[in-house]
This record gives sequence, structure tokens and C-alpha cells, in this order.
Amino acid sequence: MDAELSNILRQMPKAELHMHIEGSLEPELIFALAERNGVSLKYASVDELRRAYAFKDLQSFLDIYYAGASVLLTEQDFYDMTWAYLQRAHADNVRHSELFFDPQTHTERGVDFGTVVNGIYRATQDAQEKWGLSASLIMCFLRHLSEEEAFATLELALPYRDKIIGIGLDSSELGHPPEKFARVFARCKDLGLHLVAHAGEEGPPEYIRTALDLLQVERIDHGVRCLEDAELTQRLARDRIPLTVCPLSNIKLRVFDQAKDHNMVQLLDAGLVVTVNSDDPAYFGGYVNENFLQMFAALPLGKDHAYRLARNSFEASFIDQPTRQKYLAELDAFFGR
Ligand code: ADE
Ligand code: ZN
Repeated sequence: MDAELSNILRQMPKAELHMHIEGSLEPELIFALAERNGVSLKYASVDELRRAYAFKDLQSFLDIYYAGASVLLTEQDFYDMTWAYLQRAHADNVRHSELFFDPQTHTERGVDFGTVVNGIYRATQDAQEKWGLSASLIMCFLRHLSEEEAFATLELALPYRDKIIGIGLDSSELGHPPEKFARVFARCKDLGLHLVAHAGEEGPPEYIRTALDLLQVERIDHGVRCLEDAELTQRLARDRIPLTVCPLSNIKLRVFDQAKDHNMVQLLDAGLVVTVNSDDPAYFGGYVNENFLQMFAALPLGKDHAYRLARNSFEASFIDQPTRQKYLAELDAFFGR
């Protein structure tokens, strides 16, 4: 790739909309927190842990991801993890970030809900103050658990309603279709929360359709398998339902073999509102700019695509209109438009 394009990808202002904050825990921080908290890990060293990051599918990743998150106990731990991510996001010229968090991973271990939210939230406030980087929180329900447990988690979240902008659905997709969570999503909608769900990552296009029809989500996380269904693809394009695509994740979790096999170009050619995101950057080999760089190196993508992807990221985000206009104006100025 030429230097001009790689500079554009690095320096253009962008939003990141699909990032699990627990997936930003680097092995070094996992070990530092384990030591600070007296938690024992089944890996002897940072290197040994890193060597375990050879995934064959989503579940083999999730098993290690939940083990890594077990070192998080105090509000300061959640702050430190989030602050480390926000520093990297700032370095990647991310202007706005929407962070997923998985409270059930922590409340199941006896960590208080408030400890989780307050630590993450305080770091986002500091990033806003220090750099003007806006960040908001999307609480995910773990889909391998029951809807009843999701309702119980929503109860715990109610005192923190003002710190959460939306609800997502993540963890093991196959065998846990969206309809399992239809009632709890309806309740979240009544509460005025934004709604998103992982669908069509490993699961079939039908899960994308049911996420739209039965959960009423506004965006689809991943969604790359939509192309197997022409009618669904047309609907996503017509209704401008954004897809938060995570290229390095898709390769590490074997959704596609290699970068050159990713369907990003076909998704764009189908007129879809595609965005580029890092998913779980500490596990998948890079933060958002690395996702852009590897895709643009492997696929026939150029400057106009870069502009379109960055523009989509702001248009698909859950920010207020004045903030969106400010970021879009900055983007247009960057591209000389
Ligand atoms: N949790 C963290 N990353 C995830 C992913 N890519 N899919 C589903 N659940 C997740
Ligand atoms: Zn994800």
C-alpha cells in the first residue's frame, strides 16, 4: 500500500462502534491485575498466554476471553482497562467510541454491578475532558445465559440508566437465536435504550432477520453472512441498517481464511452501511487502524472507500446531531471535500 493511503487511514477521524472493553485487556495487563488482586491464572507467563491465542472458532476464543476477564475485581481495574483502550483509540484518531461491556461476566463472580460501570464510565469522562474523545457504553447480555438472567441484569442496571446508551447481545451465537431475548429487548426499548445485536458472525442470515424483526435492533454487529441472502442484503441496504464489521476478528475466528478472502468489498458494493471496528483488539492482533490497514493492503480499496467507511462510522453512531455534524465537518475538511 502506498504511504499516502496508509497515512490517510491512520490519520482520518473515525468512530469505533464495536469494541468489547474486556477484549482490550492486553496479556501484560492481565498479568499485572492478576498479581495486584492475587488471582491465579492457568498460564505461567505473558508469552504462554499469548501463544494460547490460536482460535479455531468463536467458542475457542470466548473460553480464553472469559478467563482473561477473571482478573478484574475493583473499580480501579475497570478504570485501568478502559483507560488503556482509550489511549490507543486516541492514538488511532478515534473521535467517538461505543464500548460494549459484559456485566454478567463479572456479577457472576461476585463483582458489584456498580464497580464495573463506575470504573469504565470514569475513564470515558477523563477521555472526554483530556482529548474531547466521546465514549459511551452499550451493555451486552450474554446469549448463552437465559432471558431470565438478562432481565435480572437489567434490574441491576436501572440505577445506572444514565450511564448506558444501549443494549447489545453477544457471546456464543450458534444455538442462541435472537428470539430467545425478544421480551427483554422489548423492555429495553421501552426504557429508551438503543438496541444492537451480534448476528450473522457465525450464525446464519436468519439470525440477522430475527434480530431486526423480533429484537428491533438499529444496527447489526458483524452481519457478514448477510450476503448469503439476497433479499436480506437488499433490505439492509434499503433501510440503511449499519453493519459493524470486524475484519481481523473474522480472520482470527476463521469466518474467513485470510484478509484477501474477506467480503468487505462485496458488502460495500451491495450498498451496505459498513463500518470497520476492532471487536477484541488485544486478542485479534490489532486496534482499529490495524484493521483498516490490513484490509486496504489485501483488498482493492482506496481513498474513496476510506472516506465512505469513516463517514459511515459517524452516521451509524448513537451521538447527538450537533456532535455528528461536528465530526463529519472535520472528516470533510480532512479529505478536502
Ligand atoms: N464477545 C466478545 N467478542 C465477541 C464476538 N466477536 N462475538 C460474540 N461475542 C463476543
Ligand atoms: Zn463483538
